[in-house]
Amino acid sequence: MGHSNTYNMLQRFYGLVYFSAVLLFVTLTGTQAECPVQLNPQRAVVRYEGSVEVNCSTSVPHKGLGWEASEGAVPMARDKMMIAWRVSHLTEWDIQPFCYINYERQCQVELPVIIYKTPDSVSISIVDHSGPMIEGQQYELQCDVHDVAPVQYLTVKWYKGQTLLDKTTFTEYIKTPVNENATLLIRPDRADGGAQYRCEAELELGAEGPQPPPKKTSEPLNINVYFFLVNNFYAFILCSSMCLTGTQAECPVQLNPQRAVVRYGGSVAVNCRASVPHKGLGWEASEGAVPMTRDKMMITWRVSHLTEWDIQPFCYINHEEQCQVELPVTIYKYPDSVSISIVDHSGPMIEGRQYELQCDVHDVAPVQYLTVKWYKGQTLLDKTTFTEDSKTPVNETATLLIRPDRADGGAQYRCEAELELGAEGPQPPPKKTSEPLNINVYFKLIINENKLPSIVPVFRGYPEVLVCEAEGNPKPTISWILGTNVIVYNETLTISESTPEHVYCTSDNSVGRATRQVNVSIQGNYAFVSFFYIPIILGIFVAVVVAISVIFIFIYIYLTNYKKTKTGHYDVKEANAHKELLAQPVPP
Ligand SMILES: *[C@@H]1O[C@H](CO)[C@@H](O)[C@H](O)[C@H]1NC(C)=O
Repeated sequence: MGHSNTYNMLQRFYGLVYFSAVLLFVTLTGTQAECPVQLNPQRAVVRYEGSVEVNCSTSVPHKGLGWEASEGAVPMARDKMMIAWRVSHLTEWDIQPFCYINYERQCQVELPVIIYKTPDSVSISIVDHSGPMIEGQQYELQCDVHDVAPVQYLTVKWYKGQTLLDKTTFTEYIKTPVNENATLLIRPDRADGGAQYRCEAELELGAEGPQPPPKKTSEPLNINVYFFLVNNFYAFILCSSMCLTGTQAECPVQLNPQRAVVRYGGSVAVNCRASVPHKGLGWEASEGAVPMTRDKMMITWRVSHLTEWDIQPFCYINHEEQCQVELPVTIYKYPDSVSISIVDHSGPMIEGRQYELQCDVHDVAPVQYLTVKWYKGQTLLDKTTFTEDSKTPVNETATLLIRPDRADGGAQYRCEAELELGAEGPQPPPKKTSEPLNINVYFKLIINENKLPSIVPVFRGYPEVLVCEAEGNPKPTISWILGTNVIVYNETLTISESTPEHVYCTSDNSVGRATRQVNVSIQGNYAFVSFFYIPIILGIFVAVVVAISVIFIFIYIYLTNYKKTKTGHYDVKEANAHKELLAQPVPP
């Protein structure tokens, strides 16, 4: 191996070192598509005046990491990979913290903060009315919720006894506390005498919120119902002073259960027990009536296959006069089908645009107990309730607006129809879920800047291959533009010292286009060494060093051995000379 060969190798080695340094620099400072910080948790749900802690961490080397916020800001730190935003007593309704990082450029990630406050008070009242109610007339109940936030997470639930009657939700988007009221129309019947109405304000703050959701219930509102013993007009005329008042509490029978929840076509049995001696006890109903009997204290209304949607059974008793207690019956039917679809659209969605999903629930009853829940994967997105009052099965449609982003590609949307029938209903509430709807999201392109630095050094005589990769849906086409009008349709481009100073990678799909400029920097006389050759070059370099070492060792050994051999030879000769001298015959 000649001297000039070794020199060439060394020159290439220095070239390699230089190139590696350039490459390392480009890689370290390369930009990324997303801001490389993670928040934990990703969303904060905090009680007003409560404490909060959110960590911001990164895994990339950086020149500064900090939290910006009107309370609890954390100054930029250079030497930490994680910093925490902490406030022990959060009182700013409009706080908008974000974590930022300086690496090549500065970028930031905002933390969504929900500050909630449970209501100071929840109260129930009757609108424009006082005193007992008249059977069959309509009244309005009002629920006042004071000083609650944020109202878009508030649900007001209406109860009669243990039975959920209705729900009211609010759509305003206000961060600070407000006073809200919800109303409910009721038409009491004689069975409602003594009924207790309540309303409950609940804040459903999602998975990150407190579990169970915080709620506050009003004091109960007892209503007293006047009803007419003989339900006709003449009785009404005669009534003015003679009206008999009565409530359920006054009719001496007890129903068990007090309310029946029955599957359509299912069986039901309800006991009616007299609490006083009587002259007759019976059940009246269009199915399963029990004739009046004098000698029993308890009789049972029983139907094995209930198919009458509008059934109104009541138990009556004759003691001083006849009175009766109605049994509220809720007949439910699971939907035949639940299906999800996209409204007025087919094919892939475009990132950032708004679409409407539709959930069709077929043949379900009663609709006022129906809740349609919307899911993306396992995440509950929204709920839809229905306020119509229909006992027989209906078809219903719920809709949801979505604005997909690229992360939603392949997301599965589902809707679920649930019948929340209250404590007397089946537990857990029956539900039916649609098939999942897979959505395909087209999104704009992002060129992988890590694989394609903005400056590429090229060494004379050593062509280099550039790789342009772009992320996008649908799959983009990649082309290179060199100079004014040369276009190369390929992911890779080989450049050399004859390539124009600027080349452009362009990626197109039906959603948009992205372009990246690459500056080709022609390097001096250093041999340009591609990464591909590194192992070979290193191997040859090591071989050269080893060879030189071996040569030096040989020379050294040779020199020392030569000296030793010479000395030995000399000794032998001398010894032989002595021997010759000794062996010579001594002349007599
Ligand atoms: C933040 O990080 C610290 C240290 O790892 C940990 O003790 C704390 O629980 C984290 N807080 C949250 C909210 O994750």
